[in-house]
Amino acid sequence: MSYDGLPTPGRNDECWCGSGKKYKKCHLDFDERLEELAAQGAELLPRDLLKGPMDIEGIKRSAEVNVGALDYVAAHIGPGTTTEEIDKWVYDYCIENDAVPADLNYEGFPKSVCTSINEVVCHGIPSEDDVLKEGDIVNVDMSTIKDGYFSDSSRMFCIGEVDPEWKRLVDTTREAVQAGLAAVKPWGRLGDVSAAVNKVATDAGFTVVREFGGHGIGLEFHEDPWVGFNEEAGTGPVLVPGMCFTIEPMVNMGAQEIDMSDPNGWTVRTADGKPTAQWEVQIVVTDDGYELISW
Ligand code: MF3
Ligand code: CO
Repeated sequence: MSYDGLPTPGRNDECWCGSGKKYKKCHLDFDERLEELAAQGAELLPRDLLKGPMDIEGIKRSAEVNVGALDYVAAHIGPGTTTEEIDKWVYDYCIENDAVPADLNYEGFPKSVCTSINEVVCHGIPSEDDVLKEGDIVNVDMSTIKDGYFSDSSRMFCIGEVDPEWKRLVDTTREAVQAGLAAVKPWGRLGDVSAAVNKVATDAGFTVVREFGGHGIGLEFHEDPWVGFNEEAGTGPVLVPGMCFTIEPMVNMGAQEIDMSDPNGWTVRTADGKPTAQWEVQIVVTDDGYELISW
């Protein structure tokens, strides 16, 4: 029996990954390595969550729309923009590119994108009443479904001149994601990525939100594994080529605690009202590191 209970093909049968190659020329050695790790008690995802070449092509076509929509936002956002306008840009961009915003109606979310301003940690709901002004920092978190494949990334935008300490928060959060990316090594551990992210944020004097994290993604919006950013290096699932997940830390200027009491059921704020930042990228683990899928 295989470690994940999934059937193992015969040597000359087609590989399970969808490459169309014979198993012995594709994932046979790989599976043997996984079985060995499983025997040693390592934490492993089931192989049906790993992405083969066809899946990755599909996810990349979805990501092209996601990245394009955020590029469009980047080119047009500024003082006076309402978050409702951002929502419309994103929705229209998706529809024009034969895609659907994954957020829309997701668990009842009413809009196509999350727009989280200043002390809003995540899941801000676009509104005509939220007019961006000089000095604001805003996260625009965008997810796309195209041909059944999911992509997800988010960026921070500084509106006009921003307080230098707020700018430092935004820049440090981006650097934390970059440090996380540098820690993605096949056959390493997911906790290595978490610890690298956390170190950059906390060394800079900031805190990292515990309650939200990244996630596997591809054929569903949110798949295993959950990707926390307060984990220890050397812990968590083994990073295996074909794993596709997001790195998306939420970094607070002040206390780590969050406030989820907004009656709309979505908007999450810092408990102390201080600003917070987030960047999100989506990657796939490769034989020699990772490939950036969306940003
Ligand atoms: N895009 C978010 C993520 O990074 C999820 C938003 S769900 C929504 O996982 F319903 F709030 F849109
Ligand atoms: Co995400």
